[in-house]
Amino acid sequence: MDLKQHIRSIPDFPKPGVMFRDISTLLRDADAWQVALGRLARAVAPGRPDLLAGVESRGFLLAAPLASKLGCGFVMLRKPGKLPGRTVSLTYELEYGSDSLHIQEDAIEPGQRVVVVDDLLATGGTLAAAIKLLQKVGADVVASAVLIELGFLNGRSKLGIPVTALVRYD
Ligand code: PRP
Ligand code: ADE
Repeated sequence: MDLKQHIRSIPDFPKPGVMFRDISTLLRDADAWQVALGRLARAVAPGRPDLLAGVESRGFLLAAPLASKLGCGFVMLRKPGKLPGRTVSLTYELEYGSDSLHIQEDAIEPGQRVVVVDDLLATGGTLAAAIKLLQKVGADVVASAVLIELGFLNGRSKLGIPVTALVRYD
């Protein structure tokens, strides 16, 4: 199956000049979502993760079902003000603004193998922050996986760990 055919492209969202790659159309097609999860599972399993970490909010849509499929635990990396208890955070730049990610400080046992999952890799700011944050709380971040990579932004060069992408736009 060509997953790209299931991703809708919307120009000038959320601001002029950005071509938004919309996964809503893929998620509402049960077969396409299953195929995407199956391919991500095959890419991620060899890293033998103890946990998958997902980035709010679209990352959760892939990371949580993927963790369940692989029999791994799931850890949330959330936007500000959402997680209870003591958290650790990092601020990062986006293709269209800036944001921070938070994690609960006790989310990871020291040395646990973690694969970080998001829907899309653009500038790499989000995933780079996610990786640093996970490392800060003691994770061994072995790899990352995304559904979509915007190759022309070269985000993968910021990550320093292997990244698998199922669909690429150049
Ligand atoms: C989007 C996307 C990635 C990030 C990629 O999230 O889901 O997390 O941008 O961009 P980057 O590689 O340039 O950092 P967004 O902040 O729009 O949040 P959402 O998932 O809540 O829609
Ligand atoms: N997140 C960052 N850039 C994006 C884009 N072009 N499409 C969808 N999500 C994004």
